[in-house]
Amino acid sequence: MTPPVIAPGSTAEIEAVMRIMDSAFDPAFGEAWNRGQVLGILSLSDVWLILATPEGELLPEGFALARQTIDEAELLLLAVRPEARMRGIGRALVEAVADEARGRGALRLMLEMRDGNPALALYSAAGFGQIGRRRDYYRGRDRSVHDAITLARPLGIDPNLVG
Ligand SMILES: CC(C)(COP(=O)(O)OP(=O)(O)OC[C@H]1O[C@@H](n2cnc3c(N)ncnc32)[C@H](O)[C@@H]1OP(=O)(O)O)[C@@H](O)C(=O)NCCC(=O)NCCS
Repeated sequence: MTPPVIAPGSTAEIEAVMRIMDSAFDPAFGEAWNRGQVLGILSLSDVWLILATPEGELLPEGFALARQTIDEAELLLLAVRPEARMRGIGRALVEAVADEARGRGALRLMLEMRDGNPALALYSAAGFGQIGRRRDYYRGRDRSVHDAITLARPLGIDPNLVG
């Protein structure tokens, strides 16, 4: 599997981000962000965007949005278009975020995810473990509520070298 081309992004790539966002998240769970939310967070200096484009293609098929606070980084959003999944793009984005966070001095990478999201398989394989739970954090369109679980991965340790 050829790894995707990973590149930093900015507000200039908002159309590409929203194209991925609108296809990637199931509206049933209320996890997707709208354009204003993405533009707002990208205006902050400690937030960064990474785009992943399959080798030989023109449009990005995945993105990650992350934020650094002192010695911790948070993976705010990770999304890959459905037709481009299970080809390593999500994992490549997680590793790119971990590398960037480490370079910015973070000791730990955190994220919050809806309990039951199959993305847990990816995060577990990438070295994340559960450290907390927020009850009823996500509210879907049908008013169903879902817990969030908090995961963390220490940086500086390559999960491929552990256990
Ligand atoms: C989660 C998501 C980003 C994964 O993207 P992806 O490009 O398919 O992930 P990868 O191909 O890199 O998968 C990496 C590993 O995780 C596993 N995995 C990924 N998605 C999975 C799923 N839905 N169910 C089971 N395993 C999954 C893969 O099998 C793979 O394992 P392997 O290396 O042993 O083969 C994508 O499914 C997505 O956009 N989901 C909707 C948005 C979302 O929920 N984001 C996460 C919360 S912010």
